[in-house]
Amino acid sequence: MRVSRMDRAPRPIQLAVLISGSGSTLQNFIDQIAAGKLNAKIGIVIASRPGILGIERAKKAGLNCEIIERKKFASEEEFSRAIFERCAGVDLVCLAGWLSHLTIPPEFVGRVMNIHPALLPEFGGKGMYGLRVHQAVLDKGRKISGCTVHFVDDEYDHGPIILQRTCAVLPTDTAATLAHRVFEEEMIAYPDAIRLFQSRLRD
Ligand code: GRF
Repeated sequence: MRVSRMDRAPRPIQLAVLISGSGSTLQNFIDQIAAGKLNAKIGIVIASRPGILGIERAKKAGLNCEIIERKKFASEEEFSRAIFERCAGVDLVCLAGWLSHLTIPPEFVGRVMNIHPALLPEFGGKGMYGLRVHQAVLDKGRKISGCTVHFVDDEYDHGPIILQRTCAVLPTDTAATLAHRVFEEEMIAYPDAIRLFQSRLRD
């Protein structure tokens, strides 16, 4: 009997997840996959430095995790080549708190995503990460913040935007409380963006 395309379960999307810190976004992926909400497989986690909590989270989930440090390579190109070699065969590379600049090889253009904890194009760019982003939003007196999922190009926090989610900035907010509220939106936005990408994948 012929099984039509409609009858077949869609295959899990194959992900590589790149981390530089606590791995909170990685943990969100792990939890959503385990809960059956994200039809994905994390083939590899790449950490840009040793000793970070994200590596522990990856190991606890039984994921293949490699540490690839920028300082071990003479150039960004060689560093990026080493990373993308490990990503061969994955559908999508997800930057998840990844802090090193990468040179995207042609075959991965449009297949590398990032999440930024603000509404790009504002509050992004080199050095804009962690609590600095939220402090900048507070300093500007913004009433709304949020997160942005975008494709990665050669500029920091710059490539085509896939989706954004917003949240309120409260008068009582500190950078930490705002970061927490934005992260609630990130936990929805990144899996949504992955599912959107997945819906356009061919078998
Ligand atoms: C997320 O808040 C995301 O916006 C940014 O990095 C954070 C995750 O970092 N790109 P970590 O994985 O908890 O270190």
